[in-house]
Amino acid sequence: MCGIVGAVSERDVQGILLEGLRRLEYRGYDSAGMAVIDGDHQVQRARELGKVAALSDAIDANPLDGQLGIAHTRWATHGEPSQLNAHPHMSGDRLAIVHNGIIENYQDLREELKADGFTFTSQTDTEVVAHLIEKNYRAVGDLYDAVKAAITRLRGAYALAVIHADEPDHMVVCREGSPLVVGVGIGENFIASDQLALLPVTDRFMFLEEGDIADIRKEKVSIHDREGTPVERKITRFEHGADSVDKGEYRHFMLKEIYEQPRVVKATMEGRLTDSSVLEQALGTDAADLLENVRHVQIIACGTSYHAGMVARYWIEELAGVPCSVEVASEYRYRKHVIQPDTLFLCISQSGETADTLAALRQAKEAGFRAALAICNVPGSSLVRESDLVIMTQAGPEIGVASTKAFTTQLTALLIFTLALARHNGLAPEKEAEIVKAIHLVPGQVNDVLALDGEIEELSKAFMDKNHSLFLGRGSQFPVAMEGALKLKEISYIHAEAYPAGELKHGPLALVDSEMPVVTVAPNNDLVEKLKSNLEEVRARGGELFVFADKEAGVKSEEGIHVMQIPSVHEITAPIVYTVPLQLLSYHVAVLKGTDVDQPRNLAKSVTVE
Ligand code: F6R
Repeated sequence: MCGIVGAVSERDVQGILLEGLRRLEYRGYDSAGMAVIDGDHQVQRARELGKVAALSDAIDANPLDGQLGIAHTRWATHGEPSQLNAHPHMSGDRLAIVHNGIIENYQDLREELKADGFTFTSQTDTEVVAHLIEKNYRAVGDLYDAVKAAITRLRGAYALAVIHADEPDHMVVCREGSPLVVGVGIGENFIASDQLALLPVTDRFMFLEEGDIADIRKEKVSIHDREGTPVERKITRFEHGADSVDKGEYRHFMLKEIYEQPRVVKATMEGRLTDSSVLEQALGTDAADLLENVRHVQIIACGTSYHAGMVARYWIEELAGVPCSVEVASEYRYRKHVIQPDTLFLCISQSGETADTLAALRQAKEAGFRAALAICNVPGSSLVRESDLVIMTQAGPEIGVASTKAFTTQLTALLIFTLALARHNGLAPEKEAEIVKAIHLVPGQVNDVLALDGEIEELSKAFMDKNHSLFLGRGSQFPVAMEGALKLKEISYIHAEAYPAGELKHGPLALVDSEMPVVTVAPNNDLVEKLKSNLEEVRARGGELFVFADKEAGVKSEEGIHVMQIPSVHEITAPIVYTVPLQLLSYHVAVLKGTDVDQPRNLAKSVTVE
């Protein structure tokens, strides 16, 4: 998804902007650009199709010296990826703008501005905003007032940063529906769509709120809210070390993040569990009152976070006996729903900025839910700020586009939440203690699975020349199979579908032959015998099986079945542990296929547009 960086300083800003763009590369993009105001008060701009490295080469050849600048990585929404469509966009040769988001009424505005004599050089919605601000600037002669007037005409989502050569000492920024953070320096200030972009220059951040417009100068940041009232936004310090965004000894961020799971799962448990119980107060001072009155849980999320929600449904209904519905945000937000009394609205999101999830939350707040709970990984994100209650996962920055440690920490947080809810719904203290003890074992069990990495790498060779694959699971392992299939398709580009194993004979069995590897997760639970019958159905059709099975489950390697034995785990915590071998499998297949593991094609890390 698009990324924005901006800086105003005593020093040249091009190095700061380029490094910021590099740190946003993980979000996915197709072109990059930068504009600065130079010492002669002229806008200098460079834009390149492709990677930030190409922009960096262009800037090496023709430096953009200046102390005020904006930069952008673009992920095409309106108009193909091209140099002409890349940001910054300009109106004339004095005003430059970068934009994240989508302007829904850009066609009408474009016609209006053409009639006013403005010429368009791109197919983007952003260029419309550039001309609209310039039109207002000509009327009012002040950049801040011009931006303020222009945004009243915009419908859609945006984070904007604007500079004008006639006002070379500041930039004007604003947000509505897309994130924007101000990085606070000493004698210099910065802005970005994600605080990670600015970690080399500051660790102090102010998160703009919806409707905020801010004037960013070297010595001063002034912010006004939607009503035009001057506001202060709290300065928070970045909690994780700046080096947490380096790959370290690992070849890819994804591998590093898979290996971080024992530590971050433990961090997500910390302060929330005793040896044998959940510390409910750690979920927030209002948690007890809220949980006492919850009669139904509605979970909303997208992608991997949705799979975490699907696992949680099994837990919530089994342990708390509370009905739970789970739906992807992009569907939920566009249909009519019947809201049961005392329903808790639970959003799950790594980034806290996913447009569909946020839109669903905003609707829910109008719709009579008991309260909104967020499970999120990014402090200060929109989701965190807009929810009534928050359980932060402690995964640290996740850079690989394919989510790994975010998922297992979401599951950890969801299980802790489930136990707290279950306690209000009659879960026996002995059962709570049994499960809490099992949670404490998870980091060690994940380590045991990581020790199988070499064997999983060996298995991955069987997938290299395949075009399709099936993933099977039963019960709470079905969403784990879905997550395994999502991982394989997004980074190796092999078509992968997940089915509840019991559905096999209702259709997908027709696909099974020697060209269709079938991956299965088989912990030792009540369903393992049924699962074994499903595996026989596959074998009988010549399908090749790859089974990750509990060593006590009685599934053995033989002709057509490759079994990878997983240490025994409690059946409730099994989804967390069984996710890890599937992550490793996808990773190694992708490496063998030579794909761009950390930034797979067409995907973005944070999906801040619909
Ligand atoms: C898949 C993946 C995506 C995200 C989805 C939701 O590996 O990362 O499916 O899970 O875009 O993102 P968040 O959790 O940030 O709301």
